[in-house]
Parts: sequence; structure tokens; C-alpha cells
Amino acid sequence: MISSTRQIASAAFGTTQRRWIASTSRSSRAMPFIPDHTSASPSSLSMKSEPMRLLMLAKPGSGKGTLSGRLTSKYNVQFVSTGDMLREEIKAGTEVGKQAEGIVAGGGLVPDELMIKLLGTSLESSSMKGKSWILDGFPRTLVQGERLDRYLGSTGQPLGLIVHLDVPDEIIMGRISDRWIHPSSGRIYNNSYNRPKVEGLDDVTGEPLVRRADDNPEIFARRLKSFYAQTAPLLEYYRSTAPSNLVTLSGKTSDEIWPQLESLVRSRFGSLKSKSETKRVVPEAVIRRAEREISRDHRDFISSMVPIIPAAY
Ligand code: AP5
Ligand code: MG
Repeated sequence: MISSTRQIASAAFGTTQRRWIASTSRSSRAMPFIPDHTSASPSSLSMKSEPMRLLMLAKPGSGKGTLSGRLTSKYNVQFVSTGDMLREEIKAGTEVGKQAEGIVAGGGLVPDELMIKLLGTSLESSSMKGKSWILDGFPRTLVQGERLDRYLGSTGQPLGLIVHLDVPDEIIMGRISDRWIHPSSGRIYNNSYNRPKVEGLDDVTGEPLVRRADDNPEIFARRLKSFYAQTAPLLEYYRSTAPSNLVTLSGKTSDEIWPQLESLVRSRFGSLKSKSETKRVVPEAVIRRAEREISRDHRDFISSMVPIIPAAY
């Protein structure tokens, strides 16, 4: 996940032009997150050689984080979750965290401008540009969706795929009461679906798992309600601006959606390589052969230089 308090603090709002300005961690150069002069640039199908720029758009508790986690552990893909970012800001007690805390705990939506500022710093970062990534939790309103399209269009890196996970409400409600998370990594567990190896502990670090403050039935019902009121219209928006990029995957049971998602991204993004494939691309023998060739070239180079090197040397 890409987020830092330092990055957030470096962002400023251009009040006169009504647009957000974010500065990268690499330089102090101010960069417009979403320049006003650009227009939306819907994606087309001809994205196969492009990095994967994937949006997870779905109800709370539908499995966005879980499926993204599977993709990132198998493929070389960056992952940005605005929910995880907010939880990190809240935990660190930053200004953004203080503004968001009550809203998140109450199941509402954090104001668009704050979210745009928060996400802008990540999208501008060098670890995202030109890379494959998954965005989870943003956009959540039409305003956010339009701003994202304009920004990505202006950088020539439009979305390549919008995955809508369609899971029935009653299934989701059952899952949430069983969810545990590892806050610093965002890893998600579920006592019936994806149990940790040791109960209550993260598989990788062994640190304790916690419950999310907004995972109780009453708050969850509010989150679901705000999805229908504010986020669901984005489906219509993408249906009209990028119909070929919007794909709905449906499923009720544990592993129904994962194989669909994996075959979808593999067929859409030819450049997507699994981590093991990436490793296999450079086996030991190839590295050794390259080293031998380099040292032979080096010897040839030295020999070719000898006649022109002055004798004194
Ligand atoms: P966020 O963290 O994004 O929460 P959310 O959208 O409500 O989604 P969840 O994280 O609850 O669910 P998920 O779809 O990731 O499901 P998961 O994989 O965990 O946002 C939190 C809050 O931040 C928002 O309410 C809002 O206040 C604020 N916010 C964030 N972004 C914002 C924005 N852009 N604008 C304004 N406000 C913003 O899965 C759920 C459970 O199901 C897990 O226990 C999992 O193990 C289990 N599970 C997953 N898949 C399966 C399966 N196939 N079978 C069985 N169980 C499964
Ligand atoms: Mg999530």
C-alpha cells in the first residue's frame, strides 16, 4: 500500500483555481493532480500490451481487498486501497486521520476533496507511474470518478479494466462478522473462509489481528446504504464512458470469483507476469552465460585498447 503522512502533508490545495496540487516525494515541484484543461479519456480494448490499471468497484465486504491481495501476491502489481490509507492516517493521528476518523467509524464517506488529495499523492508517486496497479476504494462518488478519469487521461494512462464484484447482500453481511485484519499490511482473514494459520495472528509477521472499528452490523448497514446511494451510480457512469472496460464478476461461494478474475486479467493484460514467471525469465544458467560474455567482451575491449594506450601507461 502506498501512503505516507509526509506525502500527505506536502500536498496543497490551489484555492483560486479550484484544483488540487500534489507534490511528489522525489521533488518539491508542484504537479497538478487533475488539470482542468484535460477531458475524460475513456479506455478502449486495445490495452493488452499496457500495464494493468485496474479498478475494483464493489459493495463493502464483497472481497475487493481479498481478491486484490491474491493478485498482488501472485503478480507484480502495486495495490492502493483508500480504506487502508485512511486507517493508517487514523492510526498515526495525522490531520487527515483526525478529519476522517469519525466519518469512517460511522460508515459515511470522507469528503471528495480530502480523498482526491490523499489519492493524488499516491498516483503521482514513481512507484505507480508506468506500473501495473489495482485501485480499491476510489472512486466512490461520481465526482471522484470524473476527476480520476481526467487525471489518468491527462497522463496518457487510462484505466484498463473496471471489475465490479457482484455478491448478494446477505452473503456479505455473514462475512463481515467474521473478518479480522492485520492493520499494517492490510492482510484480511476470515474465520470461515480464509483462516490464519494460528488463530488471532498474522501468517507473515505473527502479529495480532484486529477487528475493524466499522465492522459491526449497524455501521455496516450504513456503509451498504452509502454504496447504493453514492457509489452505485459510478457503474452507470462507466457503462456509458467505458463500456468495454466494465466487467461484472458474480459469485456467492468462496472461490467462485477468483478463477474468473485471474483469467480475465491474464487475457486482458498480456504484459502481466506472475512473480514466478518473472523469476524464471532469468535463470541461473542465463546469468552465468551473460557474466561469461561480459568478461569476454571486457577482455576483447582491453585487447583492442592496448595498441592505442601510450606505452607509459
Ligand atoms: P474500505 O476499507 O474501502 O471499505 P469497504 O469498501 O467498505 O470495503 P471493505 O474493505 O469492507 O470490503 P472488501 O470489499 O475489501 O472485502 P474484503 O476483501 O475485506 O473503506 C472504509 C471506509 O473508508 C469507508 O466506509 C469510507 O468511510 C472511507 N473511504 C474509503 N475510501 C473512500 C473514498 N474514496 N471516498 C470517501 N470515503 C472513503 O472481504 C470481506 C470479508 O469477506 C473478509 O472477511 C474476507 O475474508 C471475506 N471474503 C472475501 N472473499 C470471500 C469469498 N469469496 N468467500 C467467502 N468469504 C470471503
Ligand atoms: Mg477492503
